[in-house]
This record gives sequence, structure tokens and C-alpha cells, in this order.
Amino acid sequence: MAENVDGDALTSEVVRSFSSTSDERLRQILTSLTTHLHAFVVDVAPSIEEWEQAVDFLSRTGQACTDVRQEFILLSDVLGVSMLVETLNGQETPEATDSTVLGPFHMVESPARELGDDISPESEGPRCVVSGRIRAVDGTPIPNAAIDIWQADTKGFYDVQQPAIQSVGNGRALLRSDAEGRFHFRSVIPMHYPIPTDGPVGELLKATSRHPYRPAHIHFLVTAPGFRELTTHIFIAGSDYIDSDAVFAVKGSLVKDFVQEQDGQEAERYGVPSPFRHGHFDIVLHPES
Ligand SMILES: [Fe+2]
Repeated sequence: MAENVDGDALTSEVVRSFSSTSDERLRQILTSLTTHLHAFVVDVAPSIEEWEQAVDFLSRTGQACTDVRQEFILLSDVLGVSMLVETLNGQETPEATDSTVLGPFHMVESPARELGDDISPESEGPRCVVSGRIRAVDGTPIPNAAIDIWQADTKGFYDVQQPAIQSVGNGRALLRSDAEGRFHFRSVIPMHYPIPTDGPVGELLKATSRHPYRPAHIHFLVTAPGFRELTTHIFIAGSDYIDSDAVFAVKGSLVKDFVQEQDGQEAERYGVPSPFRHGHFDIVLHPES
């Protein structure tokens, strides 16, 4: 900051310029933004060239956005802001299942499937089984909950990333829990995958020697009348990058073992060859306030 500029006075003047904002929340946000942004600029003291570089970076981040790509969400993800917002708006009781980020691949409607269906019929690899129960924090089962599921395949690709290889809907399902709140489906265990690196966010990761990978996971979005919507993942225990998710979305409570089941009768019950890997995941919803 140049010596003849009173930074505090400038900050106060800008804050004052918002004093007539009739929307109180908007005034609060702009006051905080101005105060923190000015403090950040004072702290960093950018050269003119650095400031122009920052403007260019943000401009190109916006220009990289399309109908099927959201580079700004990706920037928010890799800076940990998406996870921070998710945490601030998440479940308030420790008994309820933790939430985590939505991620950029919930972009098409999942096909309605029956309990027990294979949700990744076009994906190569051995079938696994995922099962669990949707229940309230007091233990009451929640029947007929809508369970939206989406995942990558065994090579780490979502259907929408490979339109020439996978049909839209492969690796996706919209299920309904049964009368006891239970659900189960067959699928493949997804692989870890990189977030897109061919844009400005990729440049940021490269410049900071950060890897772009997310550990293997399956997304869930669960809704039921009278309960708060839950957006979460289960992470597959033992996956690469489980301790260094590029978007900081791993919570210990969401890491689940996919155990090797040797019981032939269980395999028959689920319609998979024996042995198979089985992930069990109860989802606990918080009542709507
Ligand atoms: Fe994902």
C-alpha cells in the first residue's frame, strides 16, 4: 500500500457506500466482503502485474464455464469453500449422517430403478452390493425415501464424460426405500478419478504441485417428506487419495469398508457371483425444523 493512501479510511468509505442498501443481509455480506477483501489485498500487496494476472485468471475461469462444466464451482471446491459452505449448512446432530459436497456430475436425471437392480450395467468389472437402511435419528425406519445415486465406473469415468462409450444413466439410479426403510443395489466399485485439469483450476493445481484426484466414492442424495434433504457420498475404505481428496470432502464417518463376502447364499440372495464385495451404509436423516 502506498504511504499516502489511508487504507482504513478507504475501507470505511466503501463500507459506508453500502449503508443505504435496503436488504439487510445484502448490506451485511457486502460490508464483510469489503472488509475482508481489503485486508487480503493489504496483506498480499500485489504488484499491478499480479493484480492483472488475478483478473485474467478469474476472467478465464468464467469463460471456461459451459452447460456441462462449472469451473467456478471447481475453483470453490479446490479452495475448500464448497466443503465449508456444506459444513455450515449440514446436519446439526451428530446422530445424523454427515453431508458432503454435491460435486459437478449430478447433471442428469437418474433413471428410476428397482431395489436390487444393477445400476452400472455397462461397466466392466466384478459386481459389488451396496445395502443399508434409511432411518430417522430416533431409529424409526423411513419407507419410500427417494435415494438418488451416481458414481464413476471402474476406470474412474462418469457416463457424461464418455458419451461415445457409456449411455447416460449408467452408474446412476433413483431408488425408493422399502417398507422397513431398506435399500440395496448391485454395481461396480468405482475408481478414484481426477477433477478436470484442462482449465484455469488445473493451472492452479499444477502451479501449487497439488494432485487433482478424488478418492473412490458413490454419491447419494436422499429426500423424504418431513426430513432434511441429505447430500453425501460413501468413500471406499482403502482407496487411493482417501487422505488427500482434491476437494477436501472426505469425512471419517463416510469412509466404509467393502468387505469380501464368502457366503454363497448371500451371493444368491443379491444375484451376484460369489465371492463379492459388500458395502453397508445406513443413512440417518435429520427431521425438518
Ligand atoms: Fe464424484
